[in-house]
Amino acid sequence: MNSSGLSLWPPVASAEAAHVDGIFVALLFIAGAIILLVGMLLLVFGIRFRRGSPARREELPSVISRDVEIGWTAGTVFLALFLFWWAGSVQLAAGQPPADALEIHVAAKQWMWKTRHPNGAREINALHVPRGEAVRLVMTSQDVIHSFFVPAFRVKQDAVPGRFTEAWFRATREGEYHIFCTEFCGTDHAAMGGKVVVMEPADYARWAAAQPESDSLPREGARLFVALGCSGCHAPSSAVHAPGLAGVYGRTVHLADGRAVRADEAYLRDSILQPKRDVVAGYEPVMPSFAGAVDEDELQKLVAYLMQLRDVSTPPGGAP
Ligand code: CUA
Repeated sequence: MNSSGLSLWPPVASAEAAHVDGIFVALLFIAGAIILLVGMLLLVFGIRFRRGSPARREELPSVISRDVEIGWTAGTVFLALFLFWWAGSVQLAAGQPPADALEIHVAAKQWMWKTRHPNGAREINALHVPRGEAVRLVMTSQDVIHSFFVPAFRVKQDAVPGRFTEAWFRATREGEYHIFCTEFCGTDHAAMGGKVVVMEPADYARWAAAQPESDSLPREGARLFVALGCSGCHAPSSAVHAPGLAGVYGRTVHLADGRAVRADEAYLRDSILQPKRDVVAGYEPVMPSFAGAVDEDELQKLVAYLMQLRDVSTPPGGAP
């Protein structure tokens, strides 16, 4: 350790980080205790039962050997089950963002992180977030696999081309923290990083309002929806028989082959790129694929637009 405060531990700046550290320390402690115990027994028995020593060598009474055997086997089984439950519950909680989380889109490319806030504010190699609020990252990559890592939050998630991945965190401490790319992604992999800036919520609101005017993702998506001709078929008034999309996000969709799937972000995205894979029951597989016609950036915009399309066309009392 030196005077600049170099520590073996990254800062703890999220609720998740405290949990992860707790598990890490406990595992280290338990593993250390077991190594110490086994090593000491090895040493003691090695000396005690060395060749030619007068130590007693007959069998132990069966009650002792059996009870001890059952005892330590049961003990370690329960210890392992407890560790599994502990780590599993933390991992599960880490995978489920609260419904009211602030949604931020992250697009990785060689060699930078591009982030985008709900109001349209964009950043490169930086991410401003409010302290104490849940932040959900929806990530994708425009080229190869990258991995978004913020050690201070103990959050790490791959950004994969061709699909959306998610991560979330709740920052607990103001400050600036490193973002790293932790998947070797080419020449400048090591330089691919940035910083997360955790601000008080009021400061964040001021910061977001001060960003240059830029259209929100859904608004740009709405324009693309028209420009690409999607609205020609999917509009309620269209002559082409295509599924209506209002309110589709989050709904269960019944498919022509009998399956039922939840219309999440991945489903919306796949339906644009591979429309023939999950055809909605009652419709013909006539939609062309838009793979190659839209890039990741445009896909994010389209999906963002579809996600916020509320179902307002249902007549009062009528079935959707
Ligand atoms: Cu991106 Cu390594």
